[in-house]
Amino acid sequence: MNKMAGTWIEMCKSDELHEGEMKALEVQDLRVAIYRHDGKVFSTDNVCSHAFALLTDGWLDGHLVECPLHGAQFDITTGEPQNGPATCPIAIYHVEESDGVIRVHLPLG
Ligand code: FES
Repeated sequence: MNKMAGTWIEMCKSDELHEGEMKALEVQDLRVAIYRHDGKVFSTDNVCSHAFALLTDGWLDGHLVECPLHGAQFDITTGEPQNGPATCPIAIYHVEESDGVIRVHLPLG
């Protein structure tokens, strides 16, 4: 399988995502979150792996995003849960920021 299969999608302009902020985007049937932490941009699936809640409705604290529904926390750099009740990781996506634009590599045909 080609690990790079997918599509780079322009998500927003660099100046639309400030330090400590997160943004929700929908691309086809994917719900995607982007975050800026320590000047870098990270991207994950936006749906909590525990039940259904959008992580961008929660809180970003450093490199951890907290689900608004039951408080699970995920590391936005790895997708791994750091605190329950979630036990499964969320998908993370490659991000590229250049020429004032943030692009994310998504598993789309
Ligand atoms: S839905 Fe996110 S912790 Fe339960």
